Amino acid sequence: MNTDFYRMKRLPPYVIAEVNAMRAAARQEGRDIIDLGMGNPDQPPPQHVIDKLCEVAQKPNAHGYSQSKGIPGLRKAKANYYERRFGVDLDPETEIVVTMGSKEGLASLANAITAPGDVILAPNPSYPIHTFGFIIAGATIRAVPTTPDEEYWRALENAMAFTVPRPSVLVVNYPSNPTAEVVDLAFYERLVAWAKENEVWILSDLAYSELYYDGNPTPSIIQVPGAKDVAVEFTSMSKTYSMAGWRMGFAVGNKELIAAMTRVKSYLDYGAFTPIQAAACAALNGPQDIVETNRQLYQKRRDVMVDAFSRTGWDIPPPPASMFAWAPLPPALKDMGSLEFSKQLLTHAEVAVAPGVGYGELGEGYVRIAMVENEQRIRQAARNVKRYLASLGVNGS
Ligand SMILES: Cc1ncc(COP(=O)(O)O)c(C=O)c1O
Repeated sequence: MNTDFYRMKRLPPYVIAEVNAMRAAARQEGRDIIDLGMGNPDQPPPQHVIDKLCEVAQKPNAHGYSQSKGIPGLRKAKANYYERRFGVDLDPETEIVVTMGSKEGLASLANAITAPGDVILAPNPSYPIHTFGFIIAGATIRAVPTTPDEEYWRALENAMAFTVPRPSVLVVNYPSNPTAEVVDLAFYERLVAWAKENEVWILSDLAYSELYYDGNPTPSIIQVPGAKDVAVEFTSMSKTYSMAGWRMGFAVGNKELIAAMTRVKSYLDYGAFTPIQAAACAALNGPQDIVETNRQLYQKRRDVMVDAFSRTGWDIPPPPASMFAWAPLPPALKDMGSLEFSKQLLTHAEVAVAPGVGYGELGEGYVRIAMVENEQRIRQAARNVKRYLASLGVNGS
């Protein structure tokens, strides 16, 4: 039998899986690993949301197939969110589709709009679905930098000038996973103008819409007048409401892209379990104090982490948003590479982080540290790291 599967040859094993396997093995041995690797929220969703899930699950008629594009009330709830948070008007019928997490949404849209051989512009380093969603759909990726500076714009210009066929889609993700970089509305204004001029679709991943710090709210590309002509934006309940396992997300924006995605989804799924959709409505429509509470929780952890690690001899730049710090390897250990450094931290400091190279070659030289353990555990992680670094001659204060 032929097992030389076309797509498998294009999906390398997850680099991060190596560290995950080591973490699992260490835990099996009974070692207490402080897990700052995966971006898996450690908080529960609000109680009223869990109550709604249970209440609706008790109804005999709630167990059939749901609606692939999402129940109308949920699409309306998302429209209300965009209106109150960004002052943007969206038509729940034609400009919003519910997805099973934003990851599935990105993959479905990639499937819907990609022909084999299409060239897609995606950031490097990036969250893997930004590239692999399109690779699975048969596309070729041309990388652009993640850092939104002048070099970024030059890379876009070069990509349009020198790539055949011309790129058809650009993926952007701010706040970025893994780099935590952010942009302002002026960046999106320039991007929308660029996209119109170059006839390129923009897919914006706004999974960290609410995890911004120091009172600087993250903008949405849809706030730019005319953005809906060229852009779709993905948001998620996973981090905002600590509902990662529920698989609930949204795509909003351009009608043609939303329709294409909705059509593909209608072939693939029947929508999320209705009680989950009803509970997601409760989350979006109900009290929003959880959103501010989570924001403060992560901001406090960030401050604790930056402070505690600064005493290890390893300076970690404070992320302005997201649930991650993107930390350059300590200069003295740069040659070790991010994968080996992550393995060493796991073995000698019992701290799991994600190697930057797992997010693309330009992620080499960095590790991603997720703020998903409590303050006490973060301080403990810093103490362990300090001991390990000192054993290599890297000393803090
Ligand atoms: C940037 C980014 N996009 C999308 C996702 C996936 O989110 P969801 O749980 O909505 O699929 C994540 C998850 O970590 C992420 O970091």
